[in-house]
Amino acid sequence: MEFFRISKIKASNFRNLEDEIIDFSPGINCIIGENGNGKTNILEAVFMMASKKSFRKNTSFPQILSVDGEKPEILISSVFEKKDKNHFNISLKMGQEGNFWYEDNFPVKKKTSIPIVFINPFDSYSFFQTASFRRNWMDTNISQINPVYKRQLNRYQKALRFRNNLLSGKDGMIVEQLKAIDKEMAKCSKVLTDIRIQFLEEIDSTFSQTFKKIFSEEHHLQAQLQSRCLNLTEQQIYNAYRNNTEKDIERRITTYGVHKDDYALLFDGFDSIEYCSLGQQKMAYLSLLFAYIGLFRYKFNSYPIVLIDDVSGELDKQRWRKLVQYLKSQDFQVLITTANENLTRELEELAMAKKLRVLEGKVQNV
Ligand SMILES: Nc1ncnc2c1ncn2[C@@H]1O[C@H](COP(=O)(O)OP(=O)(O)O)[C@@H](O)[C@H]1O
Ligand SMILES: [Mg+2]
Repeated sequence: MEFFRISKIKASNFRNLEDEIIDFSPGINCIIGENGNGKTNILEAVFMMASKKSFRKNTSFPQILSVDGEKPEILISSVFEKKDKNHFNISLKMGQEGNFWYEDNFPVKKKTSIPIVFINPFDSYSFFQTASFRRNWMDTNISQINPVYKRQLNRYQKALRFRNNLLSGKDGMIVEQLKAIDKEMAKCSKVLTDIRIQFLEEIDSTFSQTFKKIFSEEHHLQAQLQSRCLNLTEQQIYNAYRNNTEKDIERRITTYGVHKDDYALLFDGFDSIEYCSLGQQKMAYLSLLFAYIGLFRYKFNSYPIVLIDDVSGELDKQRWRKLVQYLKSQDFQVLITTANENLTRELEELAMAKKLRVLEGKVQNV
């Protein structure tokens, strides 16, 4: 596994950002500025260069293209530093014909994927409110560290689409086909469930400790898988799919399976959704993310780039200060934004950190 840090980015026609080079330091980068000036846009551009997609929902070329752009084309060029201090360039040309990627100025079909984690305040709400968000968090993050999981998840999702298609009755219902697909679903379900259990156990091994390290509070945190495939053999899972067939045919959709799984974050043994204050939920969520980053480090001896957007408003000053101290003690690269004046002052005083002030899409070093 490679070790990447972003050292420069330059975007033209990208939202409100000025067409100029933004330099980052390998440690903490504080991006400060009042609302609506382009802080999140900078993180979005960085995230796209690392992961190929935006973290904003339903965002496509027309939304990202600067409204003041003269040409319907976005160019983003970025320099990443590898572990061995080598630099390499990733560029993206976005236009109406699609996206084109270049590495060190050569066109590439499949660009190098760079591990990156994006943290924003809304995600903490979504996490505690919607099971699909939690599931997606787990799927994305396990896939990032486990290629077997990624492959099996793809297989499962393909089988699920096929099964739902059969159930919709569009192609005529073929019972034998359904049986065959259930075999495939059961096989994938078993592997996915086993890896999910293992993953959550690995998270648990540092979850409480991470919480304590960041917030200096002693609580017991645990991520617990809630799955109807728990403790079942592949054959038993297959039987469960089969037993649901009648219901599924009636509802025209697959009602059972690992695509319905969930997990609870237990806080001192209680389900944090009901038990915790909003602040505690945010702290638990952040600790989960940093426990994941720790796990990533343990597996690959490398860190993802960490983007933290405006979490300040969600935490009181004391806790925010602790979070920043924690970030200071870690060696991953962080880009952290805030519009909050008190916290801006704290970030400005942070020794060793690079400070960037954003004003109407223009970035100044502070
Ligand atoms: N396609 C676009 N073209 C030009 N400006 C845009 C575009 N999309 C968003 N913006 C501008 O970007 C600004 C919001 O940037 P954002 O990074 O979210 O601000 P913040 O500093 O609060 O994080 C708004 O002023 C908005 O008008
Ligand atoms: Mg913002």
